[in-house]
Amino acid sequence: MPSEETFEHHDYDVVVVGAGGAGLRAAIAAYEAGARTALICRSLLGKAHTVMAEGGIAAALGNLWPEDNWQVHFRDTMRGGKLLNHWRMAELHAKEAPERVYELEQWGALFDRTPAGKISQRDFGGHRYARLAHVGDRTGLEMIRALQQRAVSIGIDVFMELTVTDLLKDGERISGLLAYWRESGRFVVFQAPAVVLATGGIGKSWKVTSNSWECTGDGHAMAMRAGATLVNMEFVQFHPTGMVWPLSVRGLLVTESVRGDGGVLRNSENKRFMFDYIPEFFKAETADNIEEADRWYEDKRNNRRPPELLPRDEVARAINSEIKAGRGSPHGGVFLDIASRRTPEFIQRRLPSMYHQFKELADVDITKEPMEIGPTCHYAMGGVEVDPDTQASRVPGLYAAGEVAGGMHGANRLGGNSLSDLIVFGKRAGEYAAAYAKGLGTDRPQVATSDVTQATQDALAPFRGEAEENPYALHQELQETMQSLVGIIRVEDELRQALENIAALRERATRLTVEGNRQYNPGWHLALDLRNMLLVSEAVATAALERQESRGGHTRDDFPTTDPYWAKHNVVLALKQEGRQAPELEMKRQALPEPPPELAELLEDAH
Ligand code: FUM
Repeated sequence: MPSEETFEHHDYDVVVVGAGGAGLRAAIAAYEAGARTALICRSLLGKAHTVMAEGGIAAALGNLWPEDNWQVHFRDTMRGGKLLNHWRMAELHAKEAPERVYELEQWGALFDRTPAGKISQRDFGGHRYARLAHVGDRTGLEMIRALQQRAVSIGIDVFMELTVTDLLKDGERISGLLAYWRESGRFVVFQAPAVVLATGGIGKSWKVTSNSWECTGDGHAMAMRAGATLVNMEFVQFHPTGMVWPLSVRGLLVTESVRGDGGVLRNSENKRFMFDYIPEFFKAETADNIEEADRWYEDKRNNRRPPELLPRDEVARAINSEIKAGRGSPHGGVFLDIASRRTPEFIQRRLPSMYHQFKELADVDITKEPMEIGPTCHYAMGGVEVDPDTQASRVPGLYAAGEVAGGMHGANRLGGNSLSDLIVFGKRAGEYAAAYAKGLGTDRPQVATSDVTQATQDALAPFRGEAEENPYALHQELQETMQSLVGIIRVEDELRQALENIAALRERATRLTVEGNRQYNPGWHLALDLRNMLLVSEAVATAALERQESRGGHTRDDFPTTDPYWAKHNVVLALKQEGRQAPELEMKRQALPEPPPELAELLEDAH
């Protein structure tokens, strides 16, 4: 850092990092609670990864099924998460999601309607009733549009194309953060007693992912460096259906709505193979022959469901097995067929984005031909350990909401539960962060100049290197490691190899070198992202090695069954020693909190 550099400086009560659904909702809540609030986003407002969420928002509105209610939604969520969810988060989520959906509507979101004029709800895997409120297959986009309009209209300060590098502390408490403008590379200091992390996921550490460039685990890593704990990091969701061709868009999401609206999976022999993969646990609820499955699609009152709508972990593993057995499609996936099952009009009305996506990117008309699809790294169930009611981490003043927070989804998230998670817990995080800041009165933590100096020196280190290591090469090697050794199916030797590879990459990352200057320098941005990706990848592989069983989004080939001991324990990770280059992870097993009797009763048939 040039010693003469002066910093742009801002002072707020609450700073929200990330402007996806959780960040926007948190900022609105904090602002409406009277806090001086800033919202920071790495890209332009309206471009957050939430816009890629397609299928819908899960909420027990009971519009199609009057039998639906928060208790059933709670049970489905816990069951989908293989009972590893924090029960209180699942309870709050199921109870509050409907109110948050109606609020979005009041703020201008235009949901699709039922013939009776109510908000339409569609089917997704693991949900007993059709309960996803949706806008065609562009629900995330509409959610962001409505939230963004609200945030801007009430006057929240938005800082766009600004990347946060580190959280700052005064003793044990959060005092603010350091960020840089992506365009100029100049640093900005925010002083604020409360920070809400809403930074999203970690998928960019895998080669095939549905995640956007922003999903580098920066919030997970910054929280750890600041002293917060991470929980459930071994659970990574591979969405069963991402594009496999053309290669340039491999991994791009193909919404579960295709299956929810009648699409089926076939292998190279044209066989509807999911009937061969119905786990014992789901037998009572899953159709075991084609006629019965088809009846389900026609008659929603038949309680059995087609096997294509098993939870995502089950479907992703089945597809993986078909491909490995040599029954895959020409480009290494399987076939997803809606063309033979629904009219072109239906497909174009219900799935307009899918229609255009395949037409424009792959020259495939999904109203006439099947799609080629395969599993894609989609979602981190693990994240910052938070108090379920307030979303507060262990670090005073640090909150987390949305994908960066852990606990809500346990071992596997149900589709549609992420958009509702964002708005339920975004609101809570914003409100509690504002209350915390207000409660401090004049006893506000201060940013120390020495911390800013250290953080800027760390950030500028790649400019001092001697052309030894290239960030793009390291990123590619990390992605190869995570894809091949910490993927859908895991085994001890491979996880150990992954940890060795990550340690070697981390050592090489101390010699990362970037060329040019600080003005819009993507190599430098990636070098900064890499330290976060390396730390988070190490957390995933470490937790995956520790959990010696298979459950949800964590399948161990060497421990193929679920283990009752692990049904009651989480893996929690912390950073033993602060420091950019040599973070040392500390791990412990932590007993899960037990739900109270009235909720435990709801889960009796969910085991
Ligand atoms: O398949 C989808 O539309 C994804 C939804 C989700 O992950 O919640």
